[in-house]
Amino acid sequence: MAYAPFDLTGKVALVTGGNRGIGYGMAEALAASNAHVAIWGRKDAANKEAADKLSKLGVGDVKTWSVDVADEKAVVDAMNDTVSAFGRIDTCIANAGVGFGAKSFAEMDTDTWRKNMAVNLDGAFWTLREVVKHITERAKNGDPGGSVVGVASLAAIEGAGKNQAYAATKGGLISMLKAIAVETARYGIRANAILPGWIATDMTEAAQGNDAFETKVIPRVPARRWGEPKDFGGVAVYLASDASSYHSGDTFVVDGGYSIF
Ligand SMILES: NC(=O)c1ccc[n+]([C@@H]2O[C@H](COP(=O)([O-])OP(=O)(O)OC[C@H]3O[C@@H](n4cnc5c(N)ncnc54)[C@H](OP(=O)(O)O)[C@@H]3O)[C@@H](O)[C@H]2O)c1
Repeated sequence: MAYAPFDLTGKVALVTGGNRGIGYGMAEALAASNAHVAIWGRKDAANKEAADKLSKLGVGDVKTWSVDVADEKAVVDAMNDTVSAFGRIDTCIANAGVGFGAKSFAEMDTDTWRKNMAVNLDGAFWTLREVVKHITERAKNGDPGGSVVGVASLAAIEGAGKNQAYAATKGGLISMLKAIAVETARYGIRANAILPGWIATDMTEAAQGNDAFETKVIPRVPARRWGEPKDFGGVAVYLASDASSYHSGDTFVVDGGYSIF
């Protein structure tokens, strides 16, 4: 018999940026484990395509909302709508992210800084604040427990030249999650960060197939391959499940061993 807590029947998981890439890899595993899944992303067509595939995987419902997480009102409204539609949210994965770099740090303009901040840090802040508000209120009414997750990056802990704005958003996200973990543990909420390494998604499209990158960087990954979105399914199910009830304030590095080599 499969390990019972990994059956997420009855639990509701929200994945921002869940219509493709790493977010979709996590949503796929959550849906296959029978969770109800909510997807937020800006593009309706991508949301619909993801929902069509996800709804065939498990017994849970799949619903999507067109949301720009860089818009505070849109996040507040979508969180209310998601809670109304499902009755609750047990797990929220703040995964939506963008990566804008510069030719050099000295040439990084303020617009680049702000574009990274708007989605990766402001967006995560509003998403996590609103879901913590919902779970805290529920806990005060006698139904504690929940899992909030942020998808950060190795860029937070390793020097990411030409990407200081992006790196700062991811470092800030980890710090925010640790502070949430301490403050909300009394309501049964745990807060953790996932730090992906080099993962083949639209975000890394320019590096995939790039000669210098493929010959100098990927061979240094001990697993000797790009990571794939499905490599994030296991950690997502674990963090959404009661198996992780006592696991909070941590950083999960999923990088094929790149950062320790
Ligand atoms: N790929 C990597 O190697 C890597 C490494 C470290 C960390 N990460 C992090 O992992 C997360 C996922 O990245 P990925 O590689 O899967 O990227 P991706 O393939 O480019 O997907 C990004 C996702 O975020 C959504 N999104 C982007 N901006 C949004 C906004 N303003 N509002 C709502 N949704 C938005 C996109 O949907 P729409 O376009 O429909 O909005 C899409 O679903 C990001 O936080 C990224 O920083 C990735």
